[in-house]
Amino acid sequence: MSTNSIDSLLHETRRFAPDPEFAANAIATADLYERAAVDPDAFWAEQARELLHWHRPFDEVLDWSNPPFAKWFADGRINVAYNCLDRHVLAGNGDRVAFHWEGEPGDSRTITYAELTAEVKKAANLLTSLGIRQGDRVAIYLPMIPEAVIAMLAIARIGAVHSVVFGGFSAESLRARIDDAAAKLVITADGGWRKGKVFPLKNAVDAALAADPSTGSGTESTVKNVLVVRRGENTVDWVEGRDLWWHDEIALMDPEHDAQPFEAENPLFILYTSGTTGKPKGILHTSGGYLTHTAFTHKNVFDLHPETDVYWCTADVGWITGHSYVVYGPLANGATQVLYEGTPDTPHPGRWWELIQKYGVTIFYTAPTAIRSFMKSGRQIPQQFDLSSLRLLGSVGEPINPEAWIWYREIIGGGTTPVVDTWWQTETGGIMISALPGVTEAKPGSAQVPLPGISVDVVNDDGSPVGHGNGGLLVVTKPWPGMLRGIWGDPERFKETYWEKFGDKYFAGDGARFDDDGDIWLLGRVDDVLNVSGHRLSTAEIESALVSHPWVAEAAVVGASDETTGQAVVAFVIVKASQADVATADEASAQLRAHVSEQIGAIARPRQIFIVSELPKTRSGKIMRRLLRDVAEGREIGDTTTLADTSVMQIISDKLK
Ligand code: WTA
Repeated sequence: MSTNSIDSLLHETRRFAPDPEFAANAIATADLYERAAVDPDAFWAEQARELLHWHRPFDEVLDWSNPPFAKWFADGRINVAYNCLDRHVLAGNGDRVAFHWEGEPGDSRTITYAELTAEVKKAANLLTSLGIRQGDRVAIYLPMIPEAVIAMLAIARIGAVHSVVFGGFSAESLRARIDDAAAKLVITADGGWRKGKVFPLKNAVDAALAADPSTGSGTESTVKNVLVVRRGENTVDWVEGRDLWWHDEIALMDPEHDAQPFEAENPLFILYTSGTTGKPKGILHTSGGYLTHTAFTHKNVFDLHPETDVYWCTADVGWITGHSYVVYGPLANGATQVLYEGTPDTPHPGRWWELIQKYGVTIFYTAPTAIRSFMKSGRQIPQQFDLSSLRLLGSVGEPINPEAWIWYREIIGGGTTPVVDTWWQTETGGIMISALPGVTEAKPGSAQVPLPGISVDVVNDDGSPVGHGNGGLLVVTKPWPGMLRGIWGDPERFKETYWEKFGDKYFAGDGARFDDDGDIWLLGRVDDVLNVSGHRLSTAEIESALVSHPWVAEAAVVGASDETTGQAVVAFVIVKASQADVATADEASAQLRAHVSEQIGAIARPRQIFIVSELPKTRSGKIMRRLLRDVAEGREIGDTTTLADTSVMQIISDKLK
């Protein structure tokens, strides 16, 4: 973010006090902060006992004797799926709708808690019959269909570990994730609906399992079976003995299944996210602490009244937001939700608003990039629908600029709803910084304050607090229940990435600033991680995808600001001399964009690729991305004096004119 926009953000003066009527019925109350401040561990223990069912109650709360490896509620025993399903049915809420599911082509399905519980029980029996046991890893590669949620909960129910891979990732990315976690089973679909067409998934699984795509050596995969949900009805290849249709197998299963308790620290899932190196990190979350954190934040930040609210979080279950705020938090709280398979603009640009009207959605949680693209297409579209059921709006994924915040509240929220801007990460498991609706006076553009029980600070490079009015690095200063427990298979990387810099403080990788009131403004990543439409991508990962193409000698990737997506991927590529005459720059760039899609997935495809003859480097050989960013954003090029060859930038800009 440029200094100018930071300054204008900090001069944002509009304030929205909580509406008294909303405040009178609000779940969150101001005293939560005081109670949590007195003894944060006791506060979390109280939440864990109040919000969840423990098969064996815990006495231990936080064990931080071996930092940075935390244990929460370690002597307690719990079943995550039981908490999300059976106990609601046993409490007499089996007829409550868990999901109003809507497929992109317009088909729909209503699933109550009783039905969801029954489906998950059968799926748990199916997993067991396929030899899946506690601790085994299962990869999920599915569209946004009910089976995605059913599969996650069934895996959790038997104490196994899921690794959901977003359906937009390529076969290569899927293979890398399957291998890293040594998954035994993959659950996929023939295909799913997106933008009016069926996109195939099963064939990507086949490709991923066929051979090691990076070496072609045909190393045998750890996967024994592939379970295939029928959704797209597209033709698929079949490997006898390995592949099984979900519906065939489920039909054979016993509908009864007793949920066994597991240790609170039993691993629940691995979710891969981009870091600063080319290799994605398998972020590991466990059971009791994670469920406490997601249930508490979901209830208080979204003011959930489960008997009357209809809640819709638009995130795909392939991302952490889908894990924490479609699956675990809302289901632990017995919420009624909307689940939608497709894109916001199919078959018409008002599809989301139509769904809000159809299901009477009261709480809506989405990303700034979506809000900005709706702003661009104009208020006339949402204004054709009745959105008056909405009473609370949320935002996540990247900083929301004040104009988008105001538009969201005015046009979608009818000028009355609270808007909560929630800061968190795959690693934090749940929301960390956010206003509490009915309590906090809202300030557009600022994520505002740490939640009760969460302690954060903004520090200098040497770890000393910067104080109000200054910028620095965001850290979390005390362990929290939803925190990651490690990086799958790589404890050293876990320590190095998050803890080495400041010792006992968690380093989030985000720049932040306290304003004079003590509210927090997020200023974007401080490392080589890009945020495109709220999705994390690593420059190193995209660079290595580019250099894996035979034409490419060298590549540098930067994030350029983009009006809609926040940041966009822009690549600078040197083509090998032997290839320079074979293709025009346009052809080369089209080929390479497609290559990145194949290697990682369409979300990583560069917006632009510039074919250049040199890259700007310092004398020690480090690429100066700052200068490339200037070019990518069409700015005047900054200080080039530390370049080994100061004429390089001139050559690059001349070539691009
Ligand atoms: C960014 C998504 C500003 C941030 C839940 C963080 C945000 C990264 C916000 C995590 C927000 C997320 N304001 N920035 N409200 N929410 N971010 O792991 O840079 O996909 O580090 O988790 O998104 O992305 P992740």
